[in-house]
Amino acid sequence: MCGIVAYIGHREAYPVILKGLKRLEYRGYDSAGIALIQYPPHNPSDQPVITVYKRKGKVAELEEYLAAKDLHSHVGIGHTRWATHGEPSDRNAHPHLSGNGRLAIVHNGIIENYASIKQELLNKDHVFHSDTDTEVLIHFIEDIQQNNQCSLEEAVRIALRRVVGAYVIVILDADHPDTLIAARKGTPLVIGVGKGEHFLASDPSPIIEYTQEVVFVNDYEVAIVKADELVLKNLGNERQTPFIQKLDLELAAIEKGGFDHFMLKEIFEQPDTIFDSLRGRLDEQQGRIIMRGVEEYMQKFIDAQRIIMVACGTSWHAALTAEYMFEELCRIPVEVEYASEFRYRNPVIHPGDIVMAISQSGETADTLVAIEEAKRAGAIIFGICNVVGSSIARVSHAGAYTHAGPEIGVASTKAFTAQLAVLCMIALKVGRQKGTLSNDRFIHLLHELALVPDKVKEILQQHDQIKHIAAKYATARDFLYLGRGYNFPVALEGALKLKEISYIHAEGYPAAEMKHGPIALVDEHLPVLFVATRDRFHEKIISNIQEIKARKGQVIAVIHEGDEVVPQLANEVMVVPQADEIVAPILNVIPLQLLAYYIGVAKGYDVDKPRNLAKSVTVE
Ligand code: AGP
Ligand code: GLU
Repeated sequence: MCGIVAYIGHREAYPVILKGLKRLEYRGYDSAGIALIQYPPHNPSDQPVITVYKRKGKVAELEEYLAAKDLHSHVGIGHTRWATHGEPSDRNAHPHLSGNGRLAIVHNGIIENYASIKQELLNKDHVFHSDTDTEVLIHFIEDIQQNNQCSLEEAVRIALRRVVGAYVIVILDADHPDTLIAARKGTPLVIGVGKGEHFLASDPSPIIEYTQEVVFVNDYEVAIVKADELVLKNLGNERQTPFIQKLDLELAAIEKGGFDHFMLKEIFEQPDTIFDSLRGRLDEQQGRIIMRGVEEYMQKFIDAQRIIMVACGTSWHAALTAEYMFEELCRIPVEVEYASEFRYRNPVIHPGDIVMAISQSGETADTLVAIEEAKRAGAIIFGICNVVGSSIARVSHAGAYTHAGPEIGVASTKAFTAQLAVLCMIALKVGRQKGTLSNDRFIHLLHELALVPDKVKEILQQHDQIKHIAAKYATARDFLYLGRGYNFPVALEGALKLKEISYIHAEGYPAAEMKHGPIALVDEHLPVLFVATRDRFHEKIISNIQEIKARKGQVIAVIHEGDEVVPQLANEVMVVPQADEIVAPILNVIPLQLLAYYIGVAKGYDVDKPRNLAKSVTVE
């Protein structure tokens, strides 16, 4: 869901659009493009045409490619793409043209029902040049306009009433070169109001150097934008009054959505990103999970004698959580492997083994090589990645994207919770199909998963309390993180977050493991964090807390709301809503992300770019 910039007015459009796309680069993308309304140089009175320039790669590469071209125009649209449908490539880059070339579109978001619409259009002999859902949308709008003999604006409204998904779109019309049509649902669109000019963008950063007066378009609104006129209508064609706001944000702040750091922004994005990972897949009404990649290999999953999960870092913690899910719900033996160890161990792999590679970037060298070797040995590779078209996704036989959007902060947060949500859906789907999961429990867990985004919102409201706890423990030299069952991988992830962001030494352990040595570390200087939400192990974890208290350890606990026992024992508590233990890790990790973030900030470190770390470890 990356970046849109459009311009209509008295300036040269191209420089405004290009600079605006550069302002949006922080959002992460894989390709870029522009479309301009141009008049044939030798016959200016001729019909204007739309020229499109687009390619995979960076905006600077597009700029270089355009250096010698005639780009004179006062109306144009630009796009940086974060691929969801169709690999990053020149042909899948935006803008996309209608069949007759008279319309061009740029789109942020996902058209979930594009496949059925595409089939209808194919039956009408529409020809597509890309794999994207976006190209389907502009052909759909063109088809409606031609069949209904209506205005483009009306065709857009008709199309958007049929479309399912999230979108921001801006459309160029060569037959009406003085007008841009834009619309949004679920993804932001800002219109900058200038004197005799308008600027459209995904956020204010491309706009604020020209005007501080902006209109934030609302969901289901269609904007009809001329150089000197802005009209807003709803999908029922009723005029809406544009509310012009005066911005006072600094550019840097806007890129972070008003947050101090990308990491905090991404922590707070999690209700939306978890929802996006479930969207189009978790169907509570029909009581089903739709995942084409899993369906294609369902029999392989059912027949699998074991699943090997291969990952690194935070993604390895997601894999460890998934081990508990798959073994409980699908009764399939699961091995969780550090990719770097797996690849050098000459592992025993049988044809029919399923190897699941989990990777936010899809480019981690150890994970990539590990699955290439497993593939050569005959294993089925199933990739769980966040970056569409990434190397691991391409090597995999099948997979599922996490749709968490670009993760800029080096410390993985929203990608981790999206991985857990996707892995949970796969385990539910396979368990249900295999018959190892009853329908009642399947439906119950489907409901539990659907409730997660709102419960995460509730947890995030505690950020001030967690910031207060962080301030008290920011000077600690060591931390222990303890959990049992599904909360053990959460403890490991919490320890990694703290290490990465605050450079404090932190170790995660199964809580019961303390008595086998680590408890020797405990004294009055050692904060011990327990993930102690109420589950099968609650009584035992309370005993573990008492063991720590008996040795003067400081106890911080993540607990369920309503727990009256642990607060009597702990020095600090962080409360999360009740949830089934299988989905609880998605909730229980949130306070640990915030704790690490606020301790890192309290220590004055660059939490978005921690020392020694890279966002994607593409070397061994
Ligand atoms: C997590 O916060 C770290 N940035 C790191 O451990 C990361 O999870 C690991 O490098 C794996 O990256 P991947 O998910 O992109 O493969
Ligand atoms: N779904 C569209 C595509 O894959 C838009 C992706 C985006 O938001 O950049 O091209």
